[in-house]
Amino acid sequence: MNQLTVIGAGSMGAQIAQQAALHGLDVILNDTSEQQLRKAAESNRGHLMRRVEKGKLSEADAQSALGRVRQVADLAEAVHGTEFVIEAVFEDLDLKRSIFAELHRVAPAGAVLASNSSTMGISKIADATTRPERCVNMHFFYPVLVMDLVEVVRGPRTSDETTEKAMAMARAMGRTPVLINKEIDGFVVNRILHAATQEAYRLLEAGVAGYEDIDVAVEKGLKWPMGPFRLGDFSGLDVTYKARLHMFNVTGDERYRPSPQLEAKVKAGKLGRKAGEGWYKY
Ligand SMILES: NC(=O)c1ccc[n+]([C@@H]2O[C@H](COP(=O)([O-])OP(=O)(O)OC[C@H]3O[C@@H](n4cnc5c(N)ncnc54)[C@H](O)[C@@H]3O)[C@@H](O)[C@H]2O)c1
Repeated sequence: MNQLTVIGAGSMGAQIAQQAALHGLDVILNDTSEQQLRKAAESNRGHLMRRVEKGKLSEADAQSALGRVRQVADLAEAVHGTEFVIEAVFEDLDLKRSIFAELHRVAPAGAVLASNSSTMGISKIADATTRPERCVNMHFFYPVLVMDLVEVVRGPRTSDETTEKAMAMARAMGRTPVLINKEIDGFVVNRILHAATQEAYRLLEAGVAGYEDIDVAVEKGLKWPMGPFRLGDFSGLDVTYKARLHMFNVTGDERYRPSPQLEAKVKAGKLGRKAGEGWYKY
């Protein structure tokens, strides 16, 4: 597999495409928005040029990696002759299902169709096609150019061959895949993150320690690069809140109910770094 098509040129798709191209794959990047395609190209150029300035990448390698991402706005043209598709459009089930139905129609019969969804198991999407055995989740982490992990999650009908191809594709892109055998909400990383973060909020609410001390305890004691409150500010407290609410709604498990303090921050527009204030001021 030396060719890849990425559908959706937003925060994730743009960098998934560029990461693959950095490792020698020929990539087609598709988006319905010409503006998003332009933005993706500019942003990737910026990232690679910063590496060149820091001496981490040669100018020639940067130029050839940028040249290996071809932008194609038409879906049928984007998947013509492709062996592997990664979908990274908005987190909207109906949209993903309609794209998979269309992909099934226009992509080669043998092509793997992967989704980068953070929350939707592939079985919810794959039955929009008649090739569920070739559909799989590949959950990349933001920012893809930095984060070295892909959760490969097989659905109940994903074949061994498709799973192996997804693992191989992640490796070919210079990323470390982990195999998740069963579809489960939150997959592995987000479930563990949610459990730890939820405990941090409980400790805060019970007055056991302040948020700054909890962050320092986790950073120094567990060697996390950021404690749960600092990480919330970094990702956006609205994102954390919505993820928590989603888990609470699907599981009905009280452990996932968003804490009142988190809710209050979101309602006050204190969304973290991007808003200038969250738990901390920026
Ligand atoms: N942002 C994250 O931290 C993160 C992490 C892991 C996974 N994800 C998942 O990745 C996916 C994309 O997230 P994102 O943050 O990149 O979103 P985004 O909003 O930055 O980008 C989505 C892109 O999809 C494009 N799009 C919409 N409809 C389309 C269509 N019919 N055909 C082609 N392109 C279309 C939009 O124009 C946009 O460029 C989501 O499923 C999300 O859950 C996001």
